Formats: sequence, structure tokens, C-alpha cells
Amino acid sequence: MESSSLQFQDFTGDSAVLSSLIASSWSENREQGLDYTPEFLQSCFEYPGMSPALAPVLMDGDRPAAFVAAFPRTLAVNGHTGRYALLTFFTVAPEYKGRGLGVRVWAECLRRVRQAGFDGALHYCVDGNVSNHATVAGARAAGYSAQRILSIPYLRAFLRSQPSDPVPALDPGRAAAALVEAAQPLAARLPIARQWSQQEALWQCHGRHGALTHWDEASGALVNGYILPVCDAARTRCLFLDEVHWGRLADEAKAPFLKSFLGRAAGQATIATVPLPGYTDPAHLKAAGFRGAPRQLHAYLTLWTSEAAPVEALYADVL
Ligand SMILES: CC(C)(COP(=O)(O)OP(=O)(O)OC[C@H]1O[C@@H](n2cnc3c(N)ncnc32)[C@H](O)[C@@H]1OP(=O)(O)O)[C@@H](O)C(=O)NCCC(=O)NCCS
Repeated sequence: MESSSLQFQDFTGDSAVLSSLIASSWSENREQGLDYTPEFLQSCFEYPGMSPALAPVLMDGDRPAAFVAAFPRTLAVNGHTGRYALLTFFTVAPEYKGRGLGVRVWAECLRRVRQAGFDGALHYCVDGNVSNHATVAGARAAGYSAQRILSIPYLRAFLRSQPSDPVPALDPGRAAAALVEAAQPLAARLPIARQWSQQEALWQCHGRHGALTHWDEASGALVNGYILPVCDAARTRCLFLDEVHWGRLADEAKAPFLKSFLGRAAGQATIATVPLPGYTDPAHLKAAGFRGAPRQLHAYLTLWTSEAAPVEALYADVL
């Protein structure tokens, strides 16, 4: 039976408590989770424009029972630029699962997102995870319709250190400006394309915990990701590749550019993984050593007054 002491509060900012809540809940999943460390979570909450009210916690007395966070993103959707929320870190504590709390916190978060003036919400669920059901049910409970718009396969690569030319120290501000510029034209060729402010791009290239960025000023090519351990016994460190922009690089220069990035990452991680939402040609990733991975995500878009239609590709971060 549901306790009457359940009530919503804004996220307090205690990333250590959140990290252990996520770890205990996600360890019950069939698929392997990531070790969302307090440092990584804290840096996520430092994203420009993020506020604690966009991360409702359903508390049972002084125990967190259910949680989800909505991070601000700017997306061009069919050519119209708007503010969308990326809902992620959806978690119900083990002892509260299956009692409707997931639906409640999801619905509450969507209400807050709408009230804060966002145009809609994007989220992802791992194929086969119960969240595919719970998030759609949560949207329905709030009076909206979450539509599955795209399925996203993954590639992965095993990293090996290789001798390479020394890389000049990254100028984060200039790399961020390059990311802002690289993303702009994607809005014209994709139905959903993320757009960046300079501050957001700076967070992406430098501010997020574990961020790693490789940028070639001459061509404008930029690849970026972050390194986090996965929840296996060895806490294997993995590079999650987020941004792949080739700039003016010739086709034959793309795989070597990526390999040089992977070579740098090899000092800090042993595997790399990259989602394929369709904005970049996987051939160049495969030429750099990436192969198919047994993981698939589903992307969902929730709009307030209409139903989103499926898309063939999108450019946005997958978290
Ligand atoms: C996903 C999660 C947040 C769902 O929270 P929850 O509180 O257990 O879900 P609810 O009780 O609100 O149930 C939501 C819906 O899913 C269904 N459901 C819940 N658990 C289920 C299960 N194990 N199998 C099948 N259906 C299930 C419920 O029947 C309900 O459907 P309905 O509204 O049609 O009746 C929770 O399972 C969890 O924390 N999982 C680990 C973290 C995770 O995987 N997050 C998502 C990463 S993509």
C-alpha cells in the first residue's frame, strides 16, 4: 500500500544520495548500467538553465522513492526552434517499484516542464526496459501523448593506445564556438536538430565531468564525449561519444581523425560506444574500428497539444 507521507520536493542537489539511489535501482535491470558518479551527476545539474524544480523527487518521509530530471535543450523541430526538456535518470527505489510511483514522478515532471514554458519533452528508453511502458503511462497520466519516434542502434570499439602526434591543449572557448557553428546547418537537413548556445557548448566540451574533446581548427572537425565507468566488477571505463562533426575534412581524413581521438581516450578508457541517431554516416566510424553493439534505444517525443510523428534521424544527445 502507498504511504500517505509521499510528497514531491525539488532535487536538493545532493548528488551522492542520487548516485546511490540510481545505483541500487538500476542494478536490478537486465542490461548493464553506468556508474553515474556524484561528480558526473553534479556536473549534469550545472548545465546552463537547469533548475532544481525540473528534477522532482517523490519523498517518503526523508527517503527518496522516485526521481526524474528534465534538462533544458534547444531543438529545431521541423525548422522551428524551441525549448525542449530531456528527461533522464528516471529511477524508482527498489522497494517502491511496481506501485505507480514511476508514473507519478514522470507525470509531475512533465507538468513542471510545461509550466516552465518548454515546447515538449524528449526521452530515451533502452529496448526491453519497463521504462518504455512507464514513461508512456506517465505522459498519459499528465494528459499528454509520448510517441516513439526513432530506434537508435549503437556501435562500440575497443580502445588501444597508439603512438600519435602530440595534441595541442584544447582552448575550450574556441572549441565550444566550433561546436555551435558545426551544429547550426544540421537544422536544415534533419527534422530534429539540437542547437547550442556558447555556454551550453562550453559545458559540453569542457564542463561536464569526464568531458573529452578533439578539435581540428583548420577543418572545423570536432568529436566529443565523456568517460564514465560501467557497472561491471572491473568498473570498466567507457568513452560515450556524443558529438561527431567532420567539418571540411576530406572523407579519407575522417577515420584517421577519429582514430587519433580514440588513441587519446585509450589512456583513460578501454571501450568506446556511440549511438547512431542518424545524423552522421556510420561508415567513417566503422573505418575507425567501431562495430555493431548489442544495444538499442528508443527515442520518444512528448508534445503538449499534438502527437509527434516518427523521424528517420535526429541530432540530439542521448542520455
Ligand atoms: C522504470 C522504473 C522507473 C518504473 O517505475 P515503477 O514505479 O516501477 O513503475 P510504475 O509502478 O509506475 O509502473 C508503470 C507501468 O509499468 C508497468 N510495470 C511496472 N513494473 C513492471 C514490470 N516489472 N514488468 C512489466 N510492467 C511493469 C506497470 O504495470 C505500469 O503500467 P500501467 O500504468 O499500464 O499499469 C523502475 O522500474 C526503475 O527504477 N527501474 C530502474 C531504472 C531504469 O531502468 N530507468 C530507466 C532507464 S531507460
